[in-house]
Amino acid sequence: MILAKWLDFQILGDERGSLVALEQGKIIPFEIKRVYYIYHTEKNVSRGFHAHRELKQVAICISGSCRMVLDNGLVREEVIMNSPVKGLLIDSLLWREMHDFSEDCILLVLASEHYTEADYLRDYSAFKREVGNA
Ligand code: TYD
Repeated sequence: MILAKWLDFQILGDERGSLVALEQGKIIPFEIKRVYYIYHTEKNVSRGFHAHRELKQVAICISGSCRMVLDNGLVREEVIMNSPVKGLLIDSLLWREMHDFSEDCILLVLASEHYTEADYLRDYSAFKREVGNA
């Protein structure tokens, strides 16, 4: 795996259960400007199909599972997301697709920028041109 960079979170567990704490500048390698989550995804729905020019994200599957595809224009990789103690660091200029959401999937995403539509590359050919691999 060269595109999928995993962050392993420390579990603060005790007899009551488990807890994970994420702090910017410690385990999260950017300033967190936005948090969003994807949940109640309908059956057979895939999401994503875009890259970002600047945005960096950490995606954490805090419940259930889904399959994440990452693509830098040359290499395509896929990973199964099913652990609340692992974060997938998604760098800028990486095409991402999300498939096979379980009914109970909650995908939490920490983002380095506010939402800006201008940062999106939603066309795969335009993405390939942008990364120089057209
Ligand atoms: P979109 O990025 O298309 O979702 P995905 O790529 O995960 O399939 O976002 C869906 C809609 O939500 C779109 O209209 C933009 C809006 N949106 C925001 O307003 N703020 C956000 O932080 C995000 C991620 C999306």
